[in-house]
Amino acid sequence: MNDWYRNFANSGVGTTITRQLGLPRPAVLRRYEPGQPLLPGPAVVGSAAAGRLADRLTALLQDAGVPVQSLGTADGPEDGERPAAVLLDATGLTGPADLAGVHAFLAPAVKRLRPSGRVLVLADPPAEAATPAQAAARQALDGLVRSVAKELRGGSTANLVLVPAGAEEALAAPVRFFLSGRSAYVDGQQVTVSAPVAPAVQDEERPLTGKVAVVTGAARGIGAAIARVLARDGAHVVAVDVPAAGQALAGIANEVGGAALQLDITAADAASRLVEHLRERRYAGVGPGVDIVVHNAGITRDKLLVNMDADRWNTVMTVNLQAQLDLTQALLDADGLLRPAARVVCVSSQSGIAGNRGQTNYAASKAGVIGMVRAWAPEFAGRGATINAVAPGFIVTEMTASMPVGTREVGARLNSLQQGGLPVDVAETIAWLAQPASGGVNGQVVRVCGQSLLGA
Ligand SMILES: NC(=O)c1ccc[n+]([C@@H]2O[C@H](COP(=O)([O-])OP(=O)(O)OC[C@H]3O[C@@H](n4cnc5c(N)ncnc54)[C@H](O)[C@@H]3O)[C@@H](O)[C@H]2O)c1
Repeated sequence: MNDWYRNFANSGVGTTITRQLGLPRPAVLRRYEPGQPLLPGPAVVGSAAAGRLADRLTALLQDAGVPVQSLGTADGPEDGERPAAVLLDATGLTGPADLAGVHAFLAPAVKRLRPSGRVLVLADPPAEAATPAQAAARQALDGLVRSVAKELRGGSTANLVLVPAGAEEALAAPVRFFLSGRSAYVDGQQVTVSAPVAPAVQDEERPLTGKVAVVTGAARGIGAAIARVLARDGAHVVAVDVPAAGQALAGIANEVGGAALQLDITAADAASRLVEHLRERRYAGVGPGVDIVVHNAGITRDKLLVNMDADRWNTVMTVNLQAQLDLTQALLDADGLLRPAARVVCVSSQSGIAGNRGQTNYAASKAGVIGMVRAWAPEFAGRGATINAVAPGFIVTEMTASMPVGTREVGARLNSLQQGGLPVDVAETIAWLAQPASGGVNGQVVRVCGQSLLGA
């Protein structure tokens, strides 16, 4: 979708005017295209004195064909080509004094970062620290990374990955995601990895080859983008939407070479119909079953709490939360239908984290999704599967295009990237969580919000 202001701010005259007036200058983000290298330039890798991940990180980058400029020390990186990414292994900190080395490495390295660059810090989880001083140093990195993300310009992002001892195998998938154009609109976030049950090897170009994916609400908007991206990555997509959206649904299913299933996910027999459908078909040339489920269908019925009738409350709660619970439970109960190493991804919302005026019903339902995902994560891990949530911020859709220009512009600019995200940004994050290699990302909530200033 066309961002007229971003186009203007990046034009010759627009650059001059926005600079003189001190107006936001949103960059054109680096987004993923198949065949693209992981990074458009070299990476600089630094390590804290007792870091345990730097060698693994360097090997991973070299495997992905990324030139590693120098293994940084407290003196900072060598001169040379400007880096496309700055990575720091900040594990092994013992107390606040160790943070001086973190600052000494990051300051000169970040200064040289290219536009659409990436800052990625790896750290130990504060909750597992041995002493309060160690927990303080670990937690300090969270404030540091969020602030770096707010300082970066030119479409660059900064994120944090927490790696508990024993979860090192899980590192590759989040590192690749955060460096790639797939994470264009994920900024100022943190993800905690856990040891995957079965480490997976995948074809990085078509990581979802042979997988069957169900996507609800796939007829339009974000759901249609999810169907396209999953299919591009190799999945056979079963696109689900209400009968009233049947024509659009068929169009998307045809476009992605998948199947359409007309189903109101709130109908009393919705779960049994979905189970029956998946049992009867042999998608992707294998026996019945499903590998990826994306609970994307969702609605809003906004009113202030004091004016909200029971119907508005119940409808939103049923579509956005109860249906996700019921369909997931039915798939778990349908012996073997949800394949081992299944990936369930639930669409929540920034409103479910920050709250939003006029959206008590919607925010409650989307917060409920987060509670559900966290509660189910251990059971999923026990099956070698994962369940995660994505929480989109301001995403540019047909709906936002029809908002009054003032409201829309404020909504779109109030984040570190100074622009709204695109449906494809949410879809790329979901496709990453669905990858075989993402088995160590479980029970997480990943915001796709450009580091929104709302409920940051
Ligand atoms: N657009 C945003 O900025 C934004 C921000 C945060 C979260 N989200 C969430 O992302 C998801 C997709 O949003 P969108 O903007 O693409 O919305 P949309 O209204 O464009 O699409 C939602 C789709 O879900 C389908 N749907 C609704 N009720 C259904 C039901 N009972 N059974 C089957 N399908 C049903 C609709 O027919 C529609 O095709 C939603 O869960 C939404 O809450 C969107």
